[in-house]
Amino acid sequence: MDHIRKTVIGGNWKMNLLPSEVSAYAEELKKYITDSENTVVFFAPPFVMLPIAVQSFKDTGIFVAAQNVSEHENGAFTGEVSASQLRDLGITHVIAGHSERRSIYGEADSAVNAKVLKILEHSMQPVLCVGESEEIRDSGKTEELIASQLKAALSGVSEDDITRVIIAYEPIWAIGTGRTATAVQAEEVCCFIRGVLAELYCEKANAVSIIYGGSMNADNASELLGAPNIDGGLIGGASLVPESFAKIINTANTSN
Ligand code: PGA
Repeated sequence: MDHIRKTVIGGNWKMNLLPSEVSAYAEELKKYITDSENTVVFFAPPFVMLPIAVQSFKDTGIFVAAQNVSEHENGAFTGEVSASQLRDLGITHVIAGHSERRSIYGEADSAVNAKVLKILEHSMQPVLCVGESEEIRDSGKTEELIASQLKAALSGVSEDDITRVIIAYEPIWAIGTGRTATAVQAEEVCCFIRGVLAELYCEKANAVSIIYGGSMNADNASELLGAPNIDGGLIGGASLVPESFAKIINTANTSN
């Protein structure tokens, strides 16, 4: 892998586990990680677990991320959480535009864009998710969709800020299905994403971490992470078990 880019491994807990389970998870994870020096590691528990997660991972070098954020600064938005609130808590990364937010909650590209800008404004790093459905892939429109999701979500992101954005390529048909994209399929799209970034940001594109998500686990991580344009992973199911998440982190750390 090109060493100007950081390898990034993120865990996305989605709506799983309990606040009372976080500190035991942290202890277990620390036990299994052999070395994460070369890898940026974060995990994103549900909002209600963020304070305990920040406490539990203090001084470990592991970052705590949020799964979502409001695109608004503050005010009358019942049920929403703002970027300044996350930042104040010690959150460093925020997932934006996950396909579950887009498809279940109707998050449009314009909202994803507003969230990315808000996250950057508050000195955190967006983990911007893009990815095609099975129908889009079958109709040969994957690249068209990915390019349009990227261009919309990155509108207004400056050349100075682009290297703070992490792009997660997550084909919807591979999420939670056990049907991982092959390393060749994932590399093909990650390479395409780098090309779109190059169009928008010239050589800065080479410094952006592009990670893959979709049924990544301890068994397939090594092959996926070995591809030249795959700089890490966003892991759902396999991040719920500390031992398997740690195995992926250890794999990433030795493959860069
Ligand atoms: P999965 O989820 O690893 O369970 O497929 C990945 C994600 O949605 O981020």
